[in-house]
Amino acid sequence: MSIKLSVVSQDPLRIDADVAVIGVPEGATTKEGILAQLEGALGPVVSRLVKREDFTGKKDQTLDLQTNGALAAHRVLLMGLGKANVTDVEVRLLAAKGARLALGGKAESLTIALPEGALHAARAAAEGVVLGAYRFTSFLTGDRIPKTNLARVTLATAGRVSKADRDGAALGQKVGESVCIARDLINTPPNELYPEKLAKAAEEVAKANGLECKIFDKAQLTKRGMKLILAVGQGSARDPRLVHLTYKPAKPAKKKLVFVGKGLTFDSGGLCIKPAQGMEEMKGDMGGAANVVALMAAVAATKPNVEVHGIIGCAENMPDGNAYRPGDVFGSLDGKTVEIINTDAEGRLVLADCLAYARALEPDLILDNATLTGACVVALGPTVSGFFANREELADQFRKAAKAAGESTWQLPLVEELREGLKSDWADIKHTADRWGGSITAALFLREFVGDRPWIHVDIAGPSLANKPYGIYPKGGTGHGVLTFLRLIEELS
Ligand code: BES
Ligand code: MN
Ligand code: ZN
Repeated sequence: MSIKLSVVSQDPLRIDADVAVIGVPEGATTKEGILAQLEGALGPVVSRLVKREDFTGKKDQTLDLQTNGALAAHRVLLMGLGKANVTDVEVRLLAAKGARLALGGKAESLTIALPEGALHAARAAAEGVVLGAYRFTSFLTGDRIPKTNLARVTLATAGRVSKADRDGAALGQKVGESVCIARDLINTPPNELYPEKLAKAAEEVAKANGLECKIFDKAQLTKRGMKLILAVGQGSARDPRLVHLTYKPAKPAKKKLVFVGKGLTFDSGGLCIKPAQGMEEMKGDMGGAANVVALMAAVAATKPNVEVHGIIGCAENMPDGNAYRPGDVFGSLDGKTVEIINTDAEGRLVLADCLAYARALEPDLILDNATLTGACVVALGPTVSGFFANREELADQFRKAAKAAGESTWQLPLVEELREGLKSDWADIKHTADRWGGSITAALFLREFVGDRPWIHVDIAGPSLANKPYGIYPKGGTGHGVLTFLRLIEELS
């Protein structure tokens, strides 16, 4: 159910709502501004609380006030901004935190005061509301089904409301809902979401958003020679798929961008089976593919003036009598032969065929994203993605996009010395090297399949899944990356 969102020029305290969220600039006192206004309406209790909590609008401070009928807003949540001027990213964060807290308090209606000065505050706030109010309840029954839903959100500004504000809010809502597509797909259990279903989900998003969609099943993958995707999938009762989504702008496009995602609906490790502890998290090993599907939905809403392709390789990695083995050698769509060393390094194999397919489209950029290596989580922790690029100016553009989108990422190097570790005596290349620099050797393997095309690889193994809510992300699937990719597209168009 979609939130009913509106933008109005009105005092947020005078809007009838369960909760009003108001950002407070650092240095606030009860002598003026919002605190004075609240004191006027609610009495000296405000001064007492401000003093007790030492609330001055410092970053991450909150003050929670019940208005007991004295104001149209039933509960006022003041949140410290830490300064006077806030960025779009900070507005989004404020809205997300506000929505999450409001929902936790069983609010059905919410007002968010738009701080002045942020450039696209309405869009950012709308994105934040949707991202913060997200929850995944598809598999809950009876008492576990939440009884309250956030149904109505009002963005309130002191200035006048322009058409740009209303359009921005509507677009922000669509972008937020698009990111939530990725979250839903990640959170859906692997018995329900297997390769065929992931492909169907992508097709449904395409249909709903006017995108082209091609799905290659096992027979077509075989005909096309996508031997690595097939190898990874051969131990599973569920056949693999490759999906190709296309967005074309109304006017002929200047550029063609291709986004690729790893879609392992479950990664048991195959014959090199993973330890039982934490294996359930491998239902999220299709986070990269989920991001690509989400991104395509967002692109359909933002309508950039570039051609955007989304390619996802969907497979399930299982141990079985027919599973691929260490020592096997397979050809690939690219033509190179690959020696299998560890069947748990399956993601790079699926991606290799996807990248070769992407390269044939002769794009101006290939960006792949994948829950690829545990080593990346060891290096950067669970909240930061690692990225690689084969052009320094591309790396700069990506870094800028991530910063503007408010997502944490860090560049890792394509260390040439480590390429040696991928040499094989029995095939053109093997797919893993030794333990050290595991994220780097994975990236070096992928590089073999992009030729000289401009290319970015993003390892989202850490932030794709969260073990607790933080920032704009909920527990579970986060969609980390989608906003950055969208921003990059907006910058390149
Ligand atoms: N899907 C995993 C990587 C992963 C680990 C994602 C933790 C999210 C959280 C990937 O397929 C994998 O198993 N990688 C191996 C590679 C190794 C066998 C070379 C790894 O990282 O251990
Ligand atoms: Mn694996
Ligand atoms: Zn995997």
